[in-house]
Amino acid sequence: MDALNRLAEEHADFVDKLTELEAVLDEMMGTRQASEEDVELLDEAVRFFEEELFPHFEREEKFLLPPLEAKVGLYGSLVNVVAYEHAEVRREVGKIKEGLVLLKAKRLGPHVPEIEELNRHGIFVVQFLWDHFRKEKASLFRTAREELSLEELARVEADLARSWPA
Ligand SMILES: [Fe+2]
Ligand SMILES: [Fe+2]
Repeated sequence: MDALNRLAEEHADFVDKLTELEAVLDEMMGTRQASEEDVELLDEAVRFFEEELFPHFEREEKFLLPPLEAKVGLYGSLVNVVAYEHAEVRREVGKIKEGLVLLKAKRLGPHVPEIEELNRHGIFVVQFLWDHFRKEKASLFRTAREELSLEELARVEADLARSWPA
């Protein structure tokens, strides 16, 4: 599989994780309670963001965006939009982490405001990322294939391929 396709494949895995996160948020909003299992699933969502999603962002920022920017410019393509959206997701994940700390601190008491706050940031990230992945597939990866020369594309492919742990 070529590396751009591998990035797209990762999106598909990530969407499954986001669907799981959305289900936990829905469940907590429905019951107005955060069970032990809910908290574990939220911890798992944070682990996913930090250990799987952020390295994916870093790959795109390090190996895909710079050659594209050199070719089509920062504003002539989705390059700046993608970079901005990564920053936005990182910020919102920070809010989710803070929210989770507050929820854990109120583990036994009523914690509806904490659940609502986590839901607000969580649903934002879920929906924002769906749109982000759709844009990358429809435009960023396509622009790379169309605008980069064969040599440039081969270099991007090789750099990306090396960036995954063996
Ligand atoms: Fe991205
Ligand atoms: Fe991506």
